[in-house]
Amino acid sequence: MSDLMNQLNETVSYIKSRVKSSAKVGIVLGSGLGNLSEVIEIEEAIPYTDIPNFPTSTVKGHGGKLLFGKLGGASVICMSGRFHFYEGYSAQQVIFPVRVMKLLGVETLLLSNAAGGVNPNYKVGDLMIINDHISFFTANPLIGKNVEELGTRFPDMSEPYCKNLIAKAVAIGEQHNIKLHQGVYTAVTGPTFETHAEYRLIKIIGSDVVGMSTVQENIAAVHCGMKVFAVSVVTDLGIRDDNNVITHEEVLQAAKEAEPKLTLLFTELAKSV
Ligand code: HPA
Repeated sequence: MSDLMNQLNETVSYIKSRVKSSAKVGIVLGSGLGNLSEVIEIEEAIPYTDIPNFPTSTVKGHGGKLLFGKLGGASVICMSGRFHFYEGYSAQQVIFPVRVMKLLGVETLLLSNAAGGVNPNYKVGDLMIINDHISFFTANPLIGKNVEELGTRFPDMSEPYCKNLIAKAVAIGEQHNIKLHQGVYTAVTGPTFETHAEYRLIKIIGSDVVGMSTVQENIAAVHCGMKVFAVSVVTDLGIRDDNNVITHEEVLQAAKEAEPKLTLLFTELAKSV
């Protein structure tokens, strides 16, 4: 067996020794979006530092716990705090938890992130359902030896975000009066926010938002056959006329304000799958 499968099996055995319930829905909470975890009826919370082979999170706004419990009655596993490439983890480390969730039985992955808007119609605080992405500006996490137990060498990416889940989310948005854009997320490595020229480029190539996460997790999830839904909270605007200074604090604040909409959307989605 490959080293990776050995590590994954060790991690999964450890988690199963602590958690009895199983979940079909996995959730990853983005920067400043940790409060959804307060709505989860938590059965078990395992700090990442306890979990064998798990990286540990270093960024402000990230809780760093794997939560097991019920969201709107549905059993979920929730990553409160994710791993970013810009923290110095390899792309393979970033996606390790997604693979763990898969081996724990997760079939549907709900991802969230804070992102910079480059679509001129977007406002700070808006939510955007990701219906496609551009991954070329960050490392593809599948580079390296393919582990056939997980998925194929050359995964198809024609539907990286499940159309069915997108349709469900649109219906939830209409029912609860939450405005939801749909668009393309472009992933960059960070940790720098973009220059004017970079935001312009990102817009020209067909993006609506830009961010430093999500796409590697999406690729790993698609590779191992999970269905993915992802939403961006627009926390700042890359395309604007003023001097365009963006801070991490501003991003966290905007995420906090948009959080109730995200919580409702994910709760309703978790119930529906
Ligand atoms: N660019 C990249 N990543 C981000 C941004 C941004 O403007 N906002 C939040 N994450």
